[in-house]
Amino acid sequence: MTELAIDVKRLTKKFGSRIVVNNIDIQVPKGKIYGFFGPNGSGKTTTIRMLCGLLTPDAGEGTCLGYDIMAQTQMIRKKVGYMTQKFSFWDDLTIQENVEFTANIFGMDHVSERTREALVKLGLQHRSDQSAGTLSGGWKQRLALAACILHQPEILLLDEPTAGVDPKARRELWDELGRLSEDGMTILVSTHYMDEAERCHELIYIAYGNLIVRGSTQQVIDQTHLKTLE
Ligand SMILES: Nc1ncnc2c1ncn2[C@@H]1O[C@H](COP(=O)(O)OP(=O)(O)OP(=O)(O)O)[C@@H](O)[C@H]1O
Ligand SMILES: [Mg+2]
Repeated sequence: MTELAIDVKRLTKKFGSRIVVNNIDIQVPKGKIYGFFGPNGSGKTTTIRMLCGLLTPDAGEGTCLGYDIMAQTQMIRKKVGYMTQKFSFWDDLTIQENVEFTANIFGMDHVSERTREALVKLGLQHRSDQSAGTLSGGWKQRLALAACILHQPEILLLDEPTAGVDPKARRELWDELGRLSEDGMTILVSTHYMDEAERCHELIYIAYGNLIVRGSTQQVIDQTHLKTLE
C-alpha cells in the first residue's frame, strides 16, 4: 500500500459565518508532487495553512507524516517547509544573511554548514552576497525555497511559488522540485498556471472551498467529458 505523507478528511474552515474550505479530503503519497489549483479566493492558502498547523480547522481530521493535524501541530511544523504566497524575507539582507537569519530564528545547530548546503542545493552560492531586495522574481523564489528546505523537511507546501516568475525561471524552479521529489520529498504546490499541471503526479482542483476534481492530468481531462476537435 502507498504510504501517505498527507492524509486529511473533511477539512473545513469558516471565517465568521462563511465557509471558505468545505469538507475537503486530501491524500498525497510520500515522494509525489501534487498540484493544487483553483481560482482566487477558492481556499488554497487556507487549506495549506491548516495542513502545516498554522490554522486550526473547524472540522475534519487527519495526519501529516503520521502526526494529528489537530493535536500535534508542533511536530508537523518541524517536518514541513511552508513557502508563503507573499515574499516574506528581508530586502536589506543578502541571500546568505537571510538564510542564516532564518536558521537562527529556528534555533538550528550548524547554521553556517546548513546555510551553505541550502545555497549550493539551489545554485545560490555565487549570488550569496546580493541583497534580497535587488533580486528578480525568480531568484527571490529560489531564496525562499532555500530557506524553506533548511531544516530538512519531509513535506514542502508551496503557495504559488511561480507567481510573477518568467517562463525560464519557472521551468528551472520546476526542475528543482522534480529533483527534490526524486530525493523523496513530498510536495503540494499551488499555482494558477495550467501548464504546470503536467509536471505534477496528480492534481487537486477546488473552487469556492469545494473539491471539484482530482486525479492525474489524463483522469482530470477525461472527467470533463470534453472532446477536442482538430
Ligand atoms: N483571515 C481571514 N479572515 C477572513 N477571511 C479570510 C481570511 N483568510 C482568507 N479569507 C477568505 O477566505 C477565502 C479563501 O481565501 P484563500 O486565501 O485561502 O484563497 P486562495 O485560493 O489562496 O486565493 P488566491 O489564489 O487569491 O491566493 C477568501 O474569500 C478570503 O477572502
Ligand atoms: Mg492563496
